[in-house]
Amino acid sequence: MIIKSISADGYKNLENINISLDPKMNIVCGENAQGKTNLIEAVWLCSGCRSFRGTRDRDLIGFDKEKAKVGITFKDEVRDQEIEFSVKRNNVKDKLVTLNGVKLPLISKLFGNFRCVVFTPEDLNLTKGSPDNRRSFIDLSISQVKPSYINALNKYENILSQRNAALKNIFRSDSHDSSFLDVWNSQLAETGAYISVLRYAFCKMLNHHSKILYDSVTEGNENLDIKYFSTVYENLEGEEDFKGKLAKIYLEKLEDSADTDMKTGFTNVGVHRDDVGVYVNGLLVRDFGSQGQARSAALSMKIAHAEIIKKECGDYPVMLLDDVLSELDPVRKRFILNNIEGMQVLMTCCDSRSVTEMASGKIFEMKKGRIV
Ligand SMILES: Nc1ncnc2c1ncn2[C@@H]1O[C@H](COP(=O)(O)OP(=O)(O)OP(=O)(O)O)[C@@H](O)[C@H]1O
Ligand SMILES: [Mg+2]
Repeated sequence: MIIKSISADGYKNLENINISLDPKMNIVCGENAQGKTNLIEAVWLCSGCRSFRGTRDRDLIGFDKEKAKVGITFKDEVRDQEIEFSVKRNNVKDKLVTLNGVKLPLISKLFGNFRCVVFTPEDLNLTKGSPDNRRSFIDLSISQVKPSYINALNKYENILSQRNAALKNIFRSDSHDSSFLDVWNSQLAETGAYISVLRYAFCKMLNHHSKILYDSVTEGNENLDIKYFSTVYENLEGEEDFKGKLAKIYLEKLEDSADTDMKTGFTNVGVHRDDVGVYVNGLLVRDFGSQGQARSAALSMKIAHAEIIKKECGDYPVMLLDDVLSELDPVRKRFILNNIEGMQVLMTCCDSRSVTEMASGKIFEMKKGRIV
């Protein structure tokens, strides 16, 4: 997948951006706070995801602007395509999103069309940070190759928050009758079982690809393993019957946990509590990994994610690197550059001197939200 051009205006501090990209390497340089990350983020939103910085809708629009507009033209294996979205200050919830000129009801409906992988300095903390980060990482990765997965996640979230709200009420009233949970339990079980199966399968692929990459960055000296930790299932290997057997186990687990849930006022088991275990030489990186091991593992997982997209969808995603190279030592820098050779790259950096040895590609300079 290749971005041919990017346009942005009124998106945060970006103004009047209209650039055409090199099919391989593109570097956006500029001092701090000029809008480099904003540009990466604008492109990222075209993949159908929410802001990786958690920006609220109304803050997507420039402070003194009425409207934010972003567009890309891109090319996949088959054809040229175009994505545009705009947000108006007087009605931020109602975004205008179009794919090849056809209006879509929501930005998330863009999922599965334009695919990119974003890598920010915070991602270097993927293996050490909270389980929440790792769950988001795999959920997002799965959604990119299987857009309908998003519906399952949304449904799960929705039922879970209703169940938790009911638990909070019961917590206050001091009741011991858990039968009121039945209606949510069965729905959670069905959706949760499905999510578990997909996450397990994804972690298996992630393990396979990350292992090879990690082996190369450590020159075979260390070994990486990635495992899905389920709070519901002992073992998901070979299990696929999420409507039957797995939903039943999930339901039993929820019922077993009902007493604890009523005491704590929230749901203690389920895919919202699962995690991804990342091990180096058999030890959990989260608890025992060195900074370097944590980073190499995170790098391997991110590149593996791109490999999985290639394998599942037939085309590499665009790699968005926000300020990552400056954070890395020469060995890891070379590792990442060598392993994204087949992909189009859009990266940002503060110091243009660090990239002048680049063999080919384009360098853009960003100043006060404009490409100069
Ligand atoms: N809604 C908005 N309207 C206008 N400007 C905004 C808005 N949101 C953020 N900004 C501005 O965008 C600038 C930050 O842009 P960005 O994070 O892209 O910088 P950067 O070039 O990546 O900097 P760094 O090198 O420090 O990462 C800040 O000056 C911030 O005030
Ligand atoms: Mg930045």
